[in-house]
Amino acid sequence: AQYEHYGRVGDIKEDFDIISYEDSKGELYSSFKHASHAMLFARNDTVLWDLYKSRAAIMMQMRFDGLLGFPGGLVDPGENPLDGVNRELEEEIGLDLCKHKLQNSDQVVSFVNKSKNLVLHFYGKEVTVNDFSEIEMKTLSAPDYGNETLGMIRPPLYTMGDGYRGLPAFLSNSYAGNSRQELLIGLQHFKILEQDEIEKAVDSWKTFMK
Ligand code: GTP
Ligand code: MN
Ligand code: MN
Ligand code: MN
Ligand code: MN
Ligand code: MN
Repeated sequence: AQYEHYGRVGDIKEDFDIISYEDSKGELYSSFKHASHAMLFARNDTVLWDLYKSRAAIMMQMRFDGLLGFPGGLVDPGENPLDGVNRELEEEIGLDLCKHKLQNSDQVVSFVNKSKNLVLHFYGKEVTVNDFSEIEMKTLSAPDYGNETLGMIRPPLYTMGDGYRGLPAFLSNSYAGNSRQELLIGLQHFKILEQDEIEKAVDSWKTFMK
């Protein structure tokens, strides 16, 4: 419920409701498609040009369809959402599952879109700065790199002097599913930004979009 605030923000074509992970396993959703995506991130204290706090490196991607999203994908038959996200991370970013396998406790939020018969699970995991760099390097040799995934990107988390460049401009991109909302939830859930910083960036993005 604490995330309702970001529900439907800017996602005109998407209609997702938050559901608990427990509920998502119910009979009602057994005929739905499930997909799982994950936000890997590393906090850092870097200040850019003596001006902007970097806060964290977060891994998102440019997808084959021109939309931004998180690594992850559809849960295959016989898999649970956690198996699915770990397999997709191996395929899409070459994640070393011996070192960085996600756990059930890394689930952050789940959504349902009843008109699309789709349940989306969102995971998040903090890694060290060194591990993040190592993971990021390896994405270039991942099995799906160059076809399904067209490059990993780090969202800027600061807002620049004109009030738009930085995070607000990043939010104005086109996103797969409700991954823009997931990014905002991730920033809030892991306290990467203060609540008022997130709200200001959202307001600025929406103001400039008008
Ligand atoms: P294939 O391996 O080609 O089948 O694709 P995939 O399994 O990797 O699936 P994909 O990542 O495209 O995700 C499947 C569904 O989730 C689609 O409906 C997407 O619109 C949606 N989706 C894609 N990326 C994200 C994301 O980062 N977050 C959320 N919530 N949904 C996403
Ligand atoms: Mn330059
Ligand atoms: Mn995939
Ligand atoms: Mn995918
Ligand atoms: Mn897949
Ligand atoms: Mn695939």
